[in-house]
Amino acid sequence: MTDRYAVIGNPIDHSKSPLIHGLFAKAADQDMQYSTLLGETSPGGFARAVDAFRAEGGSGMNVTVPFKTDAFAYATELSPDAQLAGAVNALKFEDGRVLGQNFDGIGLVRDVQLNLGLPIAGRRVLVLGAGGATRGALLPLARAGANTIVIANRTSEKARALAQDFTPHAKGVTVQGCGLDALDDQVFDIVFNATSASLGAEMPVISPSVFAPGALAYDLVYGKGLTPFLRLARDAGRSRVVDGVGMLVEQAAEAFEWWRGVRPDTREVITRLTVPLV
Ligand code: ATR
Repeated sequence: MTDRYAVIGNPIDHSKSPLIHGLFAKAADQDMQYSTLLGETSPGGFARAVDAFRAEGGSGMNVTVPFKTDAFAYATELSPDAQLAGAVNALKFEDGRVLGQNFDGIGLVRDVQLNLGLPIAGRRVLVLGAGGATRGALLPLARAGANTIVIANRTSEKARALAQDFTPHAKGVTVQGCGLDALDDQVFDIVFNATSASLGAEMPVISPSVFAPGALAYDLVYGKGLTPFLRLARDAGRSRVVDGVGMLVEQAAEAFEWWRGVRPDTREVITRLTVPLV
């Protein structure tokens, strides 16, 4: 029987997940179907849609905006990454159990290390933003052995609170939180923009001096071209600039392997989805 999967979100039409999983399934010869599901944002809307999908025999789901915290509440068992992120982006249904995972951070780390060829171990890492995207990235970045992780946010208290929450899980990595305006003369090897600023073509206000020579500037958004953040990094003249296409495909690959037990090849899918940064 064909196994059924779906991605749920609102809006959902823009989602690349059906394309990505369709390509994975074809290449790995998996008998599965993957569709989109528009969730209702009214109270209980997420749970109703997921209950119905499970009742029809669905095997698993990806979860996107605005339902990642609803999925966190819905899951009966959570991975450490999901627990720390406070958000779930993949569900697996197994004999009445609902397993919740968050693969965004591991997708990011795999993209940087394997696709971009930059080991994170020993690097000074700056993460802009202190929302869900940052929460999801912290544990995988610490696991990869970053030297220092600085979380800088427009609202500095949120960055400080997140750094404090995260420190017991940081595996010896130094974690600091501060305002965007308090980076002083600090310089970083990798700078992630995990704010939602790029979605509105805005810019977290930072000094171009944060980029070390040869630094990687990574915007977690996908398909927005050269965002103001990436432009700043490029104009600083010292950075390699990339968007989140690789992260998107790698987090999907993690979910695919979790569901199907087969590791899909990501290279061609990333190439197919890459939008030039202009
Ligand atoms: P997500 O789940 O995508 O991380 P979120 O939890 O709403 O979304 O968090 C959005 C993040 O982007 C926050 O860190 C926010 O900063 P504040 O905490 O100060 O609101 C940040 N952000 C959004 N727009 C921004 C902008 N124009 N400049 C700088 N930071 C911005």
